[in-house]
Amino acid sequence: MLKVNCAKQGLLSLGFAVLLVCATAALADDASAPASAPNSVQAAMAMGAKATQQLQEDKKKHEEEERLKGFGGDWESWKAGNSVSDTASLVRGLRDFAGYCRGCHALKYMRYSRMGDDLVIPPDQLAKYVVPAGAKPSDYVTSPMPAADAQNWFGKVPPDLSLMARERGPDYLFRFLTTFYSDPSRPTGANNLQLASVAMPHVLSTLEGVKVAVFKTVSRPGPGGTVIKEQVFDHFVQVAPGSQSHEEYLATVRDLVNFLDYVGEPAQVQRRSLGVKVVLFLLAFTALTYLLKREYWKNVH
Ligand code: HEC
Repeated sequence: MLKVNCAKQGLLSLGFAVLLVCATAALADDASAPASAPNSVQAAMAMGAKATQQLQEDKKKHEEEERLKGFGGDWESWKAGNSVSDTASLVRGLRDFAGYCRGCHALKYMRYSRMGDDLVIPPDQLAKYVVPAGAKPSDYVTSPMPAADAQNWFGKVPPDLSLMARERGPDYLFRFLTTFYSDPSRPTGANNLQLASVAMPHVLSTLEGVKVAVFKTVSRPGPGGTVIKEQVFDHFVQVAPGSQSHEEYLATVRDLVNFLDYVGEPAQVQRRSLGVKVVLFLLAFTALTYLLKREYWKNVH
């Protein structure tokens, strides 16, 4: 028995030794390779670098072509796609509203504390991040912008946004915030497809970047056989990037619109979750009633 074991171990050791010798030989071969053929390796590396550079250039060219092709020809069918039951999105929308909109727009029917309750923001965080200095949580959301100054600066007073989502609908708001474009002929330097000659500056341009609108001329028959030529919007071209990608910007706008949708009808958040519970209860109740009916009638033929 002992003999057999010894023989096995001997064979194994021999195997290892052979493997070790082979590996050392292979390594030595590898190490000597560059020394024996330095030029061919350098040439291969140079070719590889060139190919990578070419790939990068092709990618850049493709991206530039895509950018110039433009987008937005279908803007009238853009939808907000928001969901007021997405609390995380509502909180992001509130954060961005506080950062980018409250400077000019109030929400006169909304109290800070109500938003805190609905969006499950702890009171200390609400006080620290949402309620502005000098205001109480129970205050309505007001804007520091005096109406007379706004009238002077923009020619219009920024409207209260409490009921804006109910008035115009979330899809309108989404299109409004995504169709600002650079227009040097406007006092603010910006125009908008949804609200032509808009008085509001493009306050989110640091996020979105700058895009220009490309128009095309179309002819249509006018009165008395005349031809009327019109400039109609064709597509946008992004001319300067913002801090967010196109998709990120759309997500930011969706959150803002979601928040305004909630503000327009705060009860809908609770109503929807209550609705689901009520339907579930009714379903369970129907099942119970059915079982009870079967129990009562089982002996009646
Ligand atoms: C610098 C001031 C200012 C800021 C900041 C501002 N707005 Fe405005 N906003 C205005 C003005 C002025 C108008 C009136 C535009 C008009 O009627 O031409 C307006 C109008 C609007 C309208 C109504 C559009 C319509 O169809 O009547 C909406 C919606 C709106 N703003 C949303 C926002 C949102 C969301 C933000 C934050 C991302 C924001 N605004 C930030 C000044 C501002």
